[in-house]
Amino acid sequence: MGDQPISPNHTEKVKIMSKAIVVYLSTSGNTKMMADSITEGIVERNVDAKAVSFYDTKIQDIKSADAIAVGSSTFSYKMLPPMEKFLDETMANAGVEGKIGVSFGSYGWSGEAPLMIATKMRQLGMNVLDPVLRIQYKPTDKDLNECLRLGKDIAEKVKNL
Ligand SMILES: Cc1cc2nc3c(=O)[nH]c(=O)nc-3n(C[C@H](O)[C@H](O)[C@H](O)COP(=O)(O)O)c2cc1C
Repeated sequence: MGDQPISPNHTEKVKIMSKAIVVYLSTSGNTKMMADSITEGIVERNVDAKAVSFYDTKIQDIKSADAIAVGSSTFSYKMLPPMEKFLDETMANAGVEGKIGVSFGSYGWSGEAPLMIATKMRQLGMNVLDPVLRIQYKPTDKDLNECLRLGKDIAEKVKNL
C-alpha cells in the first residue's frame, strides 16, 4: 500500500524539527569536550544539534536554532575578546530574543566567562537555563555526564516550545 500522499489541501500543522547549536571557544580542548558532550545529550533526545567553534559559526546557524549554548574558557578574569565580539555582533544581530540560551565553560580558578555569557544572553532577551555549567580544567567522566545531562535538559526544553 505504501504511504498515502499528503493532499495539497492538507492543513494539519507540521512541526518543523527543533534545532540546537553548541558554540564554543576552547584553547586547549577542555571547553570543546564539554561542548561535545552537551551536543551528544541533545542528540540522544532526538533534537538536531551540532557543536561548532565560534570561528566557524554562521549567523544563519544562530537564526535557525531554537536553543543556543555558548561556551568559553576564562582568561584574565573574563572571556577572550573574539568571543565577546561574537556575542555583541553575531548573536546580537541574529534575533535571539525568546530563544533558549545556555552557557558553560572550563576554567582554572575564577571562571567568569560563562557567567558573563549568561549575562549577555539575558540582555539579548534570551531565556537562560540553569545551571551555568562551569568545570575546572579538563572535564572528568563525571563532569562529562553532567554535560550530557544538560544536553538532555536542553532537548526537553526545546521540544516543549
Ligand atoms: C594565560 C592564561 C590565563 C588564564 N586566566 C584564567 C582566569 O583569569 N581565571 C580562570 O578561572 N582561569 C584562567 N585560566 C585557566 C583556563 O581557563 C583553563 O586552563 C581552561 O581549562 C582552559 O580551557 P580551554 O581548553 O577550553 O580553553 C587561564 C589560563 C591561561 C593559560
